[in-house]
Amino acid sequence: MSRQRDFLGPYRLARLIRGGSTADVWEAIEENTNDRYALKILKQTSMDDKGELAALKHEYNIAKDLSSPRIIKVREMRTEAGVLFLAMELFSELNMKQALRRGPDSLAFMLDKIVEQAAEGLYYMHTKNYIHLDIKPDNFLVSRDGTVKLIDFTISEKKKTGLSKIFYSSKVARGTRSYMAPEQIRRKVCDERTDIYAFGCVLYELCTGKPPYTGDTPNDLLNRHLSSSIPSPIAQNPNVTKDFANLVKSMMAKKPEDRLQLPGQQNKIVPTMWEFLKVFRTIEIFNKRPRKPEISVFDHNVGIKGADDMFIKPSVSSDEPEEEKPRKRKPKKTTEEGDKE
Ligand SMILES: Nc1ncnc2c1ncn2[C@@H]1O[C@H](COP(=O)(O)OP(=O)(O)OP(=O)(O)O)[C@@H](O)[C@H]1O
Ligand SMILES: [Mg+2]
Repeated sequence: MSRQRDFLGPYRLARLIRGGSTADVWEAIEENTNDRYALKILKQTSMDDKGELAALKHEYNIAKDLSSPRIIKVREMRTEAGVLFLAMELFSELNMKQALRRGPDSLAFMLDKIVEQAAEGLYYMHTKNYIHLDIKPDNFLVSRDGTVKLIDFTISEKKKTGLSKIFYSSKVARGTRSYMAPEQIRRKVCDERTDIYAFGCVLYELCTGKPPYTGDTPNDLLNRHLSSSIPSPIAQNPNVTKDFANLVKSMMAKKPEDRLQLPGQQNKIVPTMWEFLKVFRTIEIFNKRPRKPEISVFDHNVGIKGADDMFIKPSVSSDEPEEEKPRKRKPKKTTEEGDKE
């Protein structure tokens, strides 16, 4: 990279954190202050794509409304040298998916803290009337001490109310297949309960190392969300408590109104992340608390440079693709995307 290309305005690009298909995420140092930031930079090829430009602007507009220690703060959006990018708070740690793949033990012993923080981030977002719509392990950053921050608002939306709810119809199904709620797959109105479903799938994966459903084809996977019986995490990990397994299963109910309705509960509740937190704080995840491993996946984190680096396989067995791309809105591909149901 030439000298000039090392800079975007005042930011000196220091390290590629993650190379994506439409945007790269870099660690950068602001020249005047020496402060470090994460820059999400649209790739040159995406700069000609109106949909991608709009998606990054959309992400900025939502992120700038959110201010919580559980959510990555966005500093600014700007264009330099013909490139559009977001400057964000740097949280130079692993995303949950990377941490899970490299060594779930590094998370298991502090999973209660991780789950609580992740849930608080999502709860905060809901209190601001936004729904995330792409809740998955890749979109939570996690640190060695169990601090969690929610990222990636590319397909997030303001919650629909009133008439916009009645007349809502989405042309494309958006989301990430392993975590998509039935109503999201069917392109119906989504709300907080859609995120609760996805968060249930994330919790399942956090305590078992695997997402709840896999399929031979993308459609097969989507159909499992629609009609397969809800799996219990205990079948994959007998150390998971019944209480936690029931909670996770209740979040993955097919019908939004059935979510978080627990066995033995007297009255029907309105499923919200607040209700989740209330129950979660009274139960244990594991029967026997996992030990802190001697070597943590966070110990050699500095070596993570880009997408290639993420193909180092950890000890967890996995037969799913390394990283599942969200099914984002791409105007040109409307029909194709719309057909995927
Ligand atoms: N503020 C940040 N600090 C540190 N790392 C970050 C930050 N934001 C993003 N990352 C890293 O970059 C990855 C991709 O970021 P993000 O999810 O926002 O982009 P994306 O559009 O979903 O990219 P992709 O399509 O490749 O998943 C994250 O999973 C995380 O590893
Ligand atoms: Mg992402």
